[in-house]
This record gives sequence, structure tokens and C-alpha cells, in this order.
Amino acid sequence: MDEAAEWLRQARRVVVFTGAGVSAESGIPTFREAQTGLWARYDAQQLATPEAFAADPDLVWGWYEWRRAAVVRASPNAAHVAVADIERHKAGTTVVTQNVDDLHERAGSREPVHLHGSLFAPRCAGCHAAFAPPGELPTEAAPRCELCASPVRPGVVWFGEALPAEALERAVQVAYECDVLLTIGTSGLVYPAAEIPLVAKRSGGKVIQINPAATPLDEESDVNLRGKAAEVLPALVERAFS
Ligand code: APR
Repeated sequence: MDEAAEWLRQARRVVVFTGAGVSAESGIPTFREAQTGLWARYDAQQLATPEAFAADPDLVWGWYEWRRAAVVRASPNAAHVAVADIERHKAGTTVVTQNVDDLHERAGSREPVHLHGSLFAPRCAGCHAAFAPPGELPTEAAPRCELCASPVRPGVVWFGEALPAEALERAVQVAYECDVLLTIGTSGLVYPAAEIPLVAKRSGGKVIQINPAATPLDEESDVNLRGKAAEVLPALVERAFS
């Protein structure tokens, strides 16, 4: 931890790369945890596809609305707050997240790069017109676009879809330029997002991983801090900047 804290303290440019594990302690299940309750019988990997939405827009819309309502009820945890602390200490910090929740923003992070979109940016599946996210309570059926009558879809990236080009370019650029990349709470299984820590490593950046479990990023990481993000990250930030 001391070595990682020193790298973080000395860094000019920092990238904080996060996955579902950073929101786990806010009560948001990670992507590969078994679905709970109403959705237990569905496999997330099956629902998060264009085919599933085409086959049953209301089912897929309803699943994302269930997730969005859970995020609205949740609060950022100490890990999200620690990420915002890093941004306050280091002006040259960029948050790149695979998460579609808004917990980084609600913890004070400015403009995180969302590689996989957001639960709060629905759009028409036909003409791509932006659609205001529904209110506090989840809606049951996919709304229909006023302009072209197509169903409105969640603004997230599904398996088989391209990532938003601007977000991916920005993520690669900041990873290439950074001195330190923190990879927090990601299984490192899904590409091209999983490439981001490798870009930092190859261009001479130090990679610090925070995860309670081993991941394919273990070998590439200069330091593996085994533990929960809401415990390890605040301790690291405290050690680096106090
Ligand atoms: N603190 C830190 N990490 C945690 C915690 C925690 N409290 N709890 C779990 N983790 C770790 C798990 O060990 C796992 O490595 O978080 C990771 C979650 O992995 P995934 O569920 O695969 O989530 P993620 O890596 O974000 O998935 C990437 O894949 O399914 C697609 O689009 C989806 O954005 C998602 C992407």
C-alpha cells in the first residue's frame, strides 16, 4: 500500500478505471452476480442484447428500469467518495467507468467517461432521439418515440454493440498519457474496456488493482490490493494525501 500511495502522490496524470465492484457496497449487484428476486430466472447476459430488446422491448426495458430504480434508491459509497477525493487532490485525474449508474457523479466526480453508456440516457431505438429518463418509480413498458413511434431503449451498450467512439477514444488517450491507473472492481473480462489498464501499462504507467478476488489483470498490475473498494481505496487515498 505504501508504494502505491507514493506513486499516487507523485503522479501528474491519474486514471481511475472502475467496474461494477465499486458500486457493490452501495447495494448494486455486480454484473456477474446471480440476479436477485424478480429477475432471478433471467441471465443478465441474455437480457443485455439487441436481440432480447427486439424480441421483447417491454421485458428488457423493465429490467433496466428495475436497475435504474435500484440506483436511484442507492447512495454512493466510500469508494465513490474516495475517487472524487483523488480528483480534488489531482487536477489531472480522469474517471473512466464501465458502470451505467450515476454514483460517481453523485459522489462529486466531474464528467466520468461512461464506456458502456448510462441508465439515465434512454433514446429512441429507431431515430436515436434522446428521451428524458422516467421519474423515481420504474415504468413497466418501453415508451414509444413521439417522432417515429419506435420503442425507446436504455442508453446502455449491449453485448455485440460498439462502444461510444468518443468515450473509447478519450479513455485510450488518458490511459496512454497517465502515470498511474487505478483499476477498481472490475473482472477485466469484457473487451475493449478491459484493454484500458493494458494501454496504461504498455505506455509506462503504474497499474494499481483493487479487488477482493483475483482477475486476469493480476499479472499486469504493479500492485494488487486485495479487498473491498470501500475499505481499500479510502485507506490508499488517506495514505497518499494526508
Ligand atoms: N470491491 C471491489 N471489487 C469488488 C467488490 C467490492 N466490494 N465486490 C465485487 N468486486 C469485484 C469482483 O471480484 C469482480 O472482479 O468486482 C468485479 C465485478 O465484475 P463484473 O461483475 O464482471 O463487473 P464488470 O467488470 O464491471 O463487468 C464489465 O461487463 O457485463 C458487462 O457491461 C457489463 O460493464 C459491465 C462489463
